[in-house]
Amino acid sequence: MCGIVGVIGNQDATQVLLRGLERLEYRGYDSAGLYVNDQQGHDHLIKRVGRIRVLSEALDETVSGTMGIGHTRWATNGRPTTANAHPHVSNDERFFLVHNGVITNAAALRDAYLQDVDLVSDTDTEVVVQLIAALARTGLTAKVALQQTLGLVEGSYAFALVDRLDPATLYVAKNQSPLLIGLGDHFNVVTSDALAMLDQTDRFVALQDGDLVTLTADTVTIEQLDGTPVVRPAHTVVLNDGDAEKGPYPYYMLKEINEQPAVMRRLVARYTDAAGQIQLPAALMRTLQTADRLYIVAAGTSYHAGLVGAPLFEQLAGVPTEVHLASEFGYHQPLLSAHPVFIFLSQSGETADIRQVLVKVKAQGHPTLTITNVETSTLAREADHFLTLAAGPEIAVASTKAYTAQIALEALVAKALGAAQGRAAAADFDVVHQLSLAASGQQTLIEEADVLHAAARDLFATTRNAFFIGRGVDHAVSLEAALKLKEISYVQAEGFAAGELKHGTIALIEQETPVVAFITDPLTAAHTRSNAEEVAARGAKVFRIAAHDLARPDDQLQLPPIDARLSPLLTIIAGQLMAYYTSLDRGYDVDRPRNLAKSVTVE
Ligand code: AGP
Repeated sequence: MCGIVGVIGNQDATQVLLRGLERLEYRGYDSAGLYVNDQQGHDHLIKRVGRIRVLSEALDETVSGTMGIGHTRWATNGRPTTANAHPHVSNDERFFLVHNGVITNAAALRDAYLQDVDLVSDTDTEVVVQLIAALARTGLTAKVALQQTLGLVEGSYAFALVDRLDPATLYVAKNQSPLLIGLGDHFNVVTSDALAMLDQTDRFVALQDGDLVTLTADTVTIEQLDGTPVVRPAHTVVLNDGDAEKGPYPYYMLKEINEQPAVMRRLVARYTDAAGQIQLPAALMRTLQTADRLYIVAAGTSYHAGLVGAPLFEQLAGVPTEVHLASEFGYHQPLLSAHPVFIFLSQSGETADIRQVLVKVKAQGHPTLTITNVETSTLAREADHFLTLAAGPEIAVASTKAYTAQIALEALVAKALGAAQGRAAAADFDVVHQLSLAASGQQTLIEEADVLHAAARDLFATTRNAFFIGRGVDHAVSLEAALKLKEISYVQAEGFAAGELKHGTIALIEQETPVVAFITDPLTAAHTRSNAEEVAARGAKVFRIAAHDLARPDDQLQLPPIDARLSPLLTIIAGQLMAYYTSLDRGYDVDRPRNLAKSVTVE
């Protein structure tokens, strides 16, 4: 949520910041701004409501410099206005600050320290920059003023600060919001996500909470708030710069949907040896084998992937598995088993709701595993164990390939755990073959995109609401398909356990209400078909998606073959494509839906 960038050195700061902001736009896109300084007495502050494109159009060649900071905003405190956009500037026009996070005691700080300062915005960030300036006016250096301010603020932050009196220095600080320093040749950059600066460098230092960094063109000095120097290792981020480009696709979401077969194959290659045996770190396997119960904790789409994974852990590995919403679990922790192991599923690895659970359960002494797509992320770093989804950058706000990668990796881990315990159910489940079926089946469905586009037009072109129904994993995938449709096409969609409809919700079915029924579970297929009939009898327009071996000639879509437990790897392709085309046909920005951000770093 919110993206920040900074640069200091020998670069064209405006271009570096703009390009970085474009790549961070997924983190928020209601307003944006940048401050640049040429270190020869000239500087510029430009802010605009709207996308980075609007900011870019407001710049001309005079807006240039060799250092600066930039921000793309997802509003927390205050509406998206120019005044509330970052960078914020102190009234004496000395300090410029960008911020990702939420300062929870901003009102108290304002009352205590800034009674005589006129604030021009509604933001917590402005309170911080005015406080730094107020402390500096008492004679403190910029760095000490920042240090003292950090000692007073509560909440989450990634800050980048410029002191106009010393534009050869850039200050950054981090607590609970992600921040990396990118190391260049006579320049250094600051970014919320390495992806944004891959065209500048591939060497990054991931900061940790409590770090205060002083940057010049040639030096990076990291200290804790009390001034104790710390050394953080630099990592090479291995990503093809082109992975973050749309290529020939009109939207990232379509590109990412299309990448799913390759992601399945890549995961198998990454986690199996030449003989097809699953290879996971020995320490992780030892930890998993201590579990008398697994707790999967996640949010949004990742939570839905957890719902598909739980029965795999139970059936293949014989370990009872619970799936929890992170935002609920942290504050209403259930009674735990004697030997719990926690699995955190997260595309971004930065979700604040998940991190607060990770911090709590680690403090309770429980073992933790993070499964995420971002190797440099906070959740990857802070858990005891980490597995990468290796799905490549997911830029569209609507998560697609991360979801299927999470399910595939859960299947690999569940199989490995079951095999390590000598379980027959695991021996009977050829996960490598199933994931290869998933990849080819996904490809088949992607090639049938026209059919799904036509279905989307027929079902969702003008509707205000829609239902997705199923049982077991078909219920889990119904939740995900409904979320996809909701978030990018703004149709009020509900994923529902098919058997529950008759207990009340069927009252909402009217003439032409679209209902998509997923039928992949042999045990309950007949019941789900009956439920689909019941809504059709009340006027619903029903679209049935059925498994290969359960399909009937009049089902609208027949899936390629796959083990029923992994059917979400196929059914969701239909859900994703129908949501994509609905959004496209309604004329929305598929990749940047309203009110959302990709990385949700506030609670
Ligand atoms: C789904 O399309 C959304 N992007 C959202 O639900 C997301 O899955 C959720 O915010 C969790 O994010 P994470 O996987 O990065 O932790």
